[in-house]
Amino acid sequence: MALEIVRSPNGAAAFLRAAEREARSTLWNFSVVWHEQHQDFTAELDGTQAGAARIRIAASLAAIEWCVVLPEYRLRGIGRRLLESAEEVANYYNCHKMTVEVLHQGGAQSFFERCGYKLDAILRQHTWKLDVAVMRKFLL
Ligand SMILES: CC(C)(COP(=O)(O)OP(=O)(O)OC[C@H]1O[C@@H](n2cnc3c(N)ncnc32)[C@H](O)[C@@H]1OP(=O)(O)O)[C@@H](O)C(=O)NCCC(=O)NCCS
Repeated sequence: MALEIVRSPNGAAAFLRAAEREARSTLWNFSVVWHEQHQDFTAELDGTQAGAARIRIAASLAAIEWCVVLPEYRLRGIGRRLLESAEEVANYYNCHKMTVEVLHQGGAQSFFERCGYKLDAILRQHTWKLDVAVMRKFLL
């Protein structure tokens, strides 16, 4: 057998599309129908875009990819409002849980704690070798 592994910028995509249903079902040990989507939110204050958030929804989980408020608009409750809207939409799509990964013991962790999120795990020496806090809030 002459097995060769090659770097393949385009070749893997079609293969994975074709193989993914069986692979996911084997991985999770049940028949998986995978649907993934993003939902975006913006916060406008007097006509100015002050912040935005993006969540990824898949497998009854919603992950916060971004929740950002411009520095000059911080600490006015805008981040909390963005989160609340994101949670409402995640709920609509039957997500049981919202998660986010942030720097452990950083300002964002405090923000999420104030918004009802709990520390689920600490990933040691993770992003750029920094400790990362996995935060979660159950929605259902
Ligand atoms: C994190 C971020 C979105 C917070 O937005 P914000 O509009 O300032 O947050 P809010 O004003 O809605 O704050 C909600 C609560 O969190 C607290 N909070 C917000 N930022 C905080 C910080 N850095 N440290 C401690 N507490 C903080 C507020 O005091 C408030 O508490 P309270 O309502 O109980 O008094 C904003 O600081 C930001 O864009 N940071 C950079 C990007 C980032 O780290 N995003 C998070 C990961 S995607």
